[in-house]
Amino acid sequence: MSEQSRRRPSKPYRRPKKDPVRVLAFEALRAVDERDAYANLVLPPLLKKAREKEGFDGRDAALATELVYGTLRRQGTYDAVIAACIDRPLREVDPPVLDVLSLGAHQLLGTRIPTHAAVSASVELARVVLGDGRAKFVNAVLRRIAQRDLDAWLEEVAPPYDEDAEDHLAVVHSHPRWVVSALWDALGGGRAGIEDLLEADNERPEVTLVARPGRSTPAELLDVLGDEAGLPGRWSPYAVRLAEGGEPGAIDAVREGRAGVQDEGSQLVAIALANAPLDGPDRRWLDGCAGPGGKAALLGALAAGRGAALLASEKQPHRARLVDRALTGNPGPYQVITADGTRPPWRPGSFDRVLVDVPCSGLGALRRRPEARWRRRPEDMEGFAPLQRALLTEALQAARVGGVVGYATCSPHLAETRVVVDDVLKKHGGAELIDARPLMPGVPALGDGPDVQLWPHLHGTDAMYLALLRRTA
Ligand SMILES: C[S@@+](CC[C@H](N)C(=O)[O-])C[C@H]1O[C@@H](n2cnc3c(N)ncnc32)[C@H](O)[C@@H]1O
Repeated sequence: MSEQSRRRPSKPYRRPKKDPVRVLAFEALRAVDERDAYANLVLPPLLKKAREKEGFDGRDAALATELVYGTLRRQGTYDAVIAACIDRPLREVDPPVLDVLSLGAHQLLGTRIPTHAAVSASVELARVVLGDGRAKFVNAVLRRIAQRDLDAWLEEVAPPYDEDAEDHLAVVHSHPRWVVSALWDALGGGRAGIEDLLEADNERPEVTLVARPGRSTPAELLDVLGDEAGLPGRWSPYAVRLAEGGEPGAIDAVREGRAGVQDEGSQLVAIALANAPLDGPDRRWLDGCAGPGGKAALLGALAAGRGAALLASEKQPHRARLVDRALTGNPGPYQVITADGTRPPWRPGSFDRVLVDVPCSGLGALRRRPEARWRRRPEDMEGFAPLQRALLTEALQAARVGGVVGYATCSPHLAETRVVVDDVLKKHGGAELIDARPLMPGVPALGDGPDVQLWPHLHGTDAMYLALLRRTA
């Protein structure tokens, strides 16, 4: 018998099994990493293609979405676990390999997928997208991860809370440390509140609809949806919440623009501005940062009910077109223009009500944009601050004396909220804060006022901020 033939026969080569759901999830993660793409924009076309070419059904699409969103949200935790299972720094692992490992870690630690299925599906994925050599590495790392559950891993990789509270929360709840710190500064209070908030950021938000007044009603939407698929809103009189799997695009009123998808916090901001007490005329309203038009469409409908006209202004032409689309069919007069709110074309003192929903870090909408927390940097705040001050200053100029200005952000970061409002008030004077809390009747836990900060864990909304100011001089 020759040397060759005495060796154990090597296993016959087996082609890797291609699992289209996991391949799609991997492709989405690569796009987010390589092209700085947004998961919520990358996924729909990939899913559409998979429906047409691979015969994806609803369950496949739901699993792919959960794998992508869950992996991105929990990336901080999974990075810490993976780092503990390899003998080189994480940054030396090739990004595509890290994506396969993170997807595997999510299946093992963040879903109910059985361990053997999570490991074997991830190794097959690695064979397909990385090759057999690197699949062995993936197999070895995932087998180590599979030895413990998430709680046991967190015990191991997160520093004790008493030693470093922010670092502990950052690892356990998968947020960058500076974001934990900024959110905690804005929220105040002890451990329980910040933990609830960070956990709420890791949950998939409910889809909320707005029945634009004068164009549709919540009753109409609830009727179409039925008891199974629709629930009344919590706070906004125009809101309807969709149950799991509800499809907004399947509702006529949404397709026709009489209703839309809009977070309840965003609805509350528009409603509070519209209802702020005002002496004198109430005919001209301005939305100075209107794109893509969620608040403008609600303001337009509310203005129409009062016989007022809305001017919706937006700097980016493509976003101004979205505002135009959102306002099409508005029952009252409106105009959409493309303009820079820091060099406005309108005359000072022209408007009775003004909204500036300024560009911001978006730290209040982390539930919706799973990759956003990892992209933002603390120094981004320095970029937003001058623009936010300039837009609020011009908004106050745009209001007539006695008129009301709403300053809103989709961020609770104090540098974008109170600090901006206080600075502008101090520098320019001529305005006073109005208590915004009574304008959100029935909404609990609105803080000490006069401004309002909404929170995902307390209100089920994005963390929208609103300060209302009356121009006095
Ligand atoms: C937070 S978004 C507004 C969201 C909008 N209110 C809604 O509910 O759909 C801020 C908007 O301000 C626009 N923007 C940025 N700089 C601006 C400027 N200098 N003047 C006017 N709009 C600006 C951005 O393009 C973006 O569309």
